[in-house]
Amino acid sequence: MLEKIIRVVREAGELIRCAHDVEQDTTEKTSPSDLVTKYDVAVQNYLRRELLRLLPEADFLGEEGEHAALTQPWCFVVDPIDGTANFVRDLGYSNISVALVRQGTVEYGVVYNPFREELFSARRGEGAWLNEKPIHVSDYDPVHALVLSGSTIYDREMTDTHFRMLSKLYGQCADFRRFGAAALDLCQIAAGRAEILFECRLRPWDFAAGSLILTEAGGQITTLEGGEISALKSGSIFASNGRCHALLETLRD
Ligand code: IPD
Ligand code: CA
Ligand code: CA
Repeated sequence: MLEKIIRVVREAGELIRCAHDVEQDTTEKTSPSDLVTKYDVAVQNYLRRELLRLLPEADFLGEEGEHAALTQPWCFVVDPIDGTANFVRDLGYSNISVALVRQGTVEYGVVYNPFREELFSARRGEGAWLNEKPIHVSDYDPVHALVLSGSTIYDREMTDTHFRMLSKLYGQCADFRRFGAAALDLCQIAAGRAEILFECRLRPWDFAAGSLILTEAGGQITTLEGGEISALKSGSIFASNGRCHALLETLRD
């Protein structure tokens, strides 16, 4: 199944790589920060058709369009383009994210950045890979840690809380970055290139696939309260290489 999902995701990546005149085909959804292009819709339609061919009895939860009630044990959770604002501005840091979830547990995860030809994948209990190579989180301690951060673009009422937490982390770590694609950020931690990512609120398609890739690479992910994340529900995340997870305690007011 993992190989089959990877094949479909790579094919969908061609739609993104061959995109042109993206800005002309961009519209605002709920605010100037909330963008959708014709490619988000085209990639999702492609993924829906091809993934449901692999497992016709599965539900499909994708960012774009209507969200039907989930009634089946299996569910594909899909972000057709994670990092849409980066895509519109040609920053080369966007990805397709696909998780296959069984009764709330992510069994397979695939995150693909077609601009760098980097495909991250994981199968529960079997490990995580970047292209063909196994990956593992870093062993950096907090003072050497690079923190990745969101910015509450869709939940502006959380902005102050978010930046208070970022400030606390920045005071204890080496530096921070805001790259703009949460699924890919989780994979950077999985590959040992960064140590922490936190966001006050993400949607399931932003983190479902990346969460499995991270944990299979030896990392840890919880809510900001320290509880279990839910692959089918929106919520906060605090993800780390494991060694830096204790910093979560320092974020409490
Ligand atoms: C967004 C990106 C961003 C994160 C936002 C997400 P989108 O996804 O992952 O990094 O901070 O919360 O919604 O809208 O580009 O698919
Ligand atoms: Ca997203
Ligand atoms: Ca998206």
